[in-house]
Amino acid sequence: MSQKKITITTLQKMKTKGEKITMLTAYDALMASQIDESGIDMILVGDSVANVLLGYDNTIPATMEQMLHHSRAVTRTVKRAFVVGDMPFMSYQACTGEAVSNAGRFLKEARVEAVKLEGGSEVSSIIKNIIAAGIPVMGHIGLTPQSIHQSGNYGLRGEDGNEAQKIIEDAKVIEDSGAFAIVLEKIPASLAAKITKILQIPTIGIGAGIDCDGQVLVTHDMLGMFEKFKPKFSKRYAELATEAKTAYKEYIKEVKEKKFPSEEHSY
Ligand code: KIV
Repeated sequence: MSQKKITITTLQKMKTKGEKITMLTAYDALMASQIDESGIDMILVGDSVANVLLGYDNTIPATMEQMLHHSRAVTRTVKRAFVVGDMPFMSYQACTGEAVSNAGRFLKEARVEAVKLEGGSEVSSIIKNIIAAGIPVMGHIGLTPQSIHQSGNYGLRGEDGNEAQKIIEDAKVIEDSGAFAIVLEKIPASLAAKITKILQIPTIGIGAGIDCDGQVLVTHDMLGMFEKFKPKFSKRYAELATEAKTAYKEYIKEVKEKKFPSEEHSY
């Protein structure tokens, strides 16, 4: 693995060469540094922090201040990966000026290298304005969790022909608006493959099949740390919640039984 800092140019070259792009979420300095040292290409400080760390049922309550707080922690330790900050609900939808200045805060105060925002053609002019300010933007279409109350469910998107066509058109609009990459969430693998072929920019899939240019997962899901629900698309590469609970129980037992601390752990 090259130690060279990943940039937008690196990511574009990876698409051209057919080299898969890897991305995981991180919300704190320790986990971000471990992911970075493992050789990941991109780190997303996702608004999924609301579900995973803050105990909310969806991503809507995440605030700018929370996202900046977690992004600052991540960028403090990441050296190689390209770090993207996720713009939270209502930080970019209401007015373009606010969207640009909030995107600017991510770069200036939290030192991420790009922002991600959800939506199709309806966010095209917002994307253009943020990019005009010199801020790289990543799009996000298919399942867009910030619109959960509009859609009413977290089901598969683009199953019927009309919805699939709209997703293809949205992907093209996002690319034409200047986005450097796009997340495709929970759409049929065949649709993601089609979009990946049409677009010049990298597609990063989550629940979108093997043919995307790259893949992203929520780290706490793939580590088996987040147990509330297990999406079909999220493979568990470890069972850390089970291991952690075994450790907690062992500690509790040893303290109760006056086995810890032993001499080894005493002065
Ligand atoms: O917030 C997040 O973790 C995301 C990923 C699911 C792409 O947006």
